[in-house]
Amino acid sequence: MRYLTFALAKGRLAKKTLEILEKVGFSCEEMKDPNSRKLIFTNEEQKIKIFLAKASDVPTYVEYGAADIGVVGRDTILEEGRKLYEVIDLGLGKCRMCVAGPKEAGELLKHGELIRVATKYPNIAKDYFYNKKHQTVEIIKLNGSIELAPIVGLSEVIVDIVETGSTLKENGLEVLEEICRLSARMVVNQVSMKMEHERITKLIGALREVLIHTKEA
Ligand code: PRP
Repeated sequence: MRYLTFALAKGRLAKKTLEILEKVGFSCEEMKDPNSRKLIFTNEEQKIKIFLAKASDVPTYVEYGAADIGVVGRDTILEEGRKLYEVIDLGLGKCRMCVAGPKEAGELLKHGELIRVATKYPNIAKDYFYNKKHQTVEIIKLNGSIELAPIVGLSEVIVDIVETGSTLKENGLEVLEEICRLSARMVVNQVSMKMEHERITKLIGALREVLIHTKEA
């Protein structure tokens, strides 16, 4: 039996994903050592390997087959636009992708004016403004603290993730339009889905069961 390889987005999401994987019988004791500098962990008995990667790289590992399975936020999946199968919504890290800005910027959106949009997600922003709203905008790519952009006059609005809404609120900004709902998803390499069909569908089934029971609890 060959190894089934998992790529997890490192951080809080990886920790929660490991808890779910444990519930369906996959575990990796080695990963629990906080002092370990290892990048990839193996469970010889279950023939699985798990590695942690930067979230935005997870879809790349999965598309190329370096990982059979990945767990990452839908924001990253949409932004990266890789060829892969999205198989389960794990319901973790629920949030929304939104257009936000100062209240007044709502008018600029309504009238389809040429505005600047700052974002860490240029592909999602382009798709939303060009293909869904048919509004021409200038997209400015930033790498973090996106809420700063409209405050200092870099852009009129931003496209960003909103979870609790407190970052917006504390900076005098608000949600102007919702683009889509987000949460963590499991993705599968298209060839692995055929070659390891039995193991992967069994895993998906077991995860569905666990998720149903978690919701009911
Ligand atoms: C994310 C996002 C918002 C914030 C939203 O930023 O970009 O800034 O969280 O959360 P809230 O609605 O609960 O306030 P993150 O902390 O990932 O850092 P970043 O600014 O570097 O993107």
